[in-house]
Amino acid sequence: MGVEQELSLHDLKEAARRYLPKMVFDYIEGGAEDETCLRRNRAAWDGLQLLPRTLRDVSQVDVSVELFGRTYAAPFGISPMGMTGICRRDADLLMAKAAHEAGLPFLLAGASNGSIERVAEVAPSAWYQLYVPKDSAIRKDMIRRAAEAGLETLVVTIDVPIYSKRERDIKNGWVRPYKPTLAAKLEALRHPAWLLAYLRNGIPYLENWQQYAPDGANPIEVASFYATQSFAIQTWDVLAEIREQWRGNLLLKGVLHPEDAAHSVEAGADGIIVSNHGGRQFDRAPSPVTMFPQVHAAVAGRIPVMVDSGIMRGSDIVAARCMGASFAFLGRPALYAVAAYGSAGVERLIAILQQEMKLALATMGCPNVRDCGPEYLAPSAGEQSGRKFAPPRA
Ligand SMILES: Cc1cc2nc3c(=O)[nH]c(=O)nc-3n(C[C@H](O)[C@H](O)[C@H](O)COP(=O)(O)O)c2cc1C
Repeated sequence: MGVEQELSLHDLKEAARRYLPKMVFDYIEGGAEDETCLRRNRAAWDGLQLLPRTLRDVSQVDVSVELFGRTYAAPFGISPMGMTGICRRDADLLMAKAAHEAGLPFLLAGASNGSIERVAEVAPSAWYQLYVPKDSAIRKDMIRRAAEAGLETLVVTIDVPIYSKRERDIKNGWVRPYKPTLAAKLEALRHPAWLLAYLRNGIPYLENWQQYAPDGANPIEVASFYATQSFAIQTWDVLAEIREQWRGNLLLKGVLHPEDAAHSVEAGADGIIVSNHGGRQFDRAPSPVTMFPQVHAAVAGRIPVMVDSGIMRGSDIVAARCMGASFAFLGRPALYAVAAYGSAGVERLIAILQQEMKLALATMGCPNVRDCGPEYLAPSAGEQSGRKFAPPRA
């Protein structure tokens, strides 16, 4: 089956399931503990209904938006994801280039395989996500490198104070010191195209970390060094130091509580991403969709509020805009796309999402995505019955 035959992000996910060994697919797909949060994320988007208006001219539909003084082709981008090179060689670069050429942001992960410098070369519009290292000298150097590479937006992920418990990975032996089980290795034999590429290319380096690891460290040793630096104690004080150093746009990723959202503004953030890390970190976390109205209200229009976790359709992105999100991001679907088809997969993913957004907007009678607002959200069952929801407790 060719990439053009893939109709939806679900199809791209199935293509990745065929291409990748189960242990790698599980690494991408898995969530924390019982994966309740993972399911909750998707259910929350499914629960948002869009209320169409009729008899309007929708012959032209515009999905472009402005953010931080730039025009983007559509209000979506690719969430940061670590260790993508295990899916396909140079996956970071392939995703970054495809997103850049389509006029969309790609977020390079703190635990990326591609280096800041290599990614900035193919995608100068990329954003860089920082996992704060324990050693503040490394942190400062990484921020310096991002600025010197010309990147304009730094995203600090704040929802990983500690490693989570992802049981798929533990069962597959996909945790340090990486000893895949015999069953996992035998299963990999059923994915010869991936296996051949892996044997040819070997384990990818965490390139951003290579220069801080001991001289001559191999990829596993660099990963071990990275692990010794993860995760630093992160507080608002550390954020203040980062704000002091970084002159560009500073975003916080992983905000769920309205008070943290308000505090982010006071701490000098230029934007926040409402996220539960795609259900990978805390199985009891609420979905970003559930928290979004209160977070958005707490920010009160002072900075852009963005969202990720569970997005699979262009209409999800339209619904996000109707809630008040400036931008939406997708993680897993982009990795599935690049794993299965390389850059052609990412291009296909972008085309599918743009087409689905246009379909939704035209059917809603809202020809410009900039005009999306709460008036297009159908009342929830709770509102219909006149029930008011209490604000969260402090
Ligand atoms: C394989 C994988 C690796 C990830 N690595 C990172 C990371 O290094 N930094 C980070 O901030 N988020 C990371 N995330 C979380 C994503 O940035 C994003 O929040 C999440 O995937 C969004 O949910 P979705 O996958 O349902 O779209 C990772 C997610 C996946 C699937």
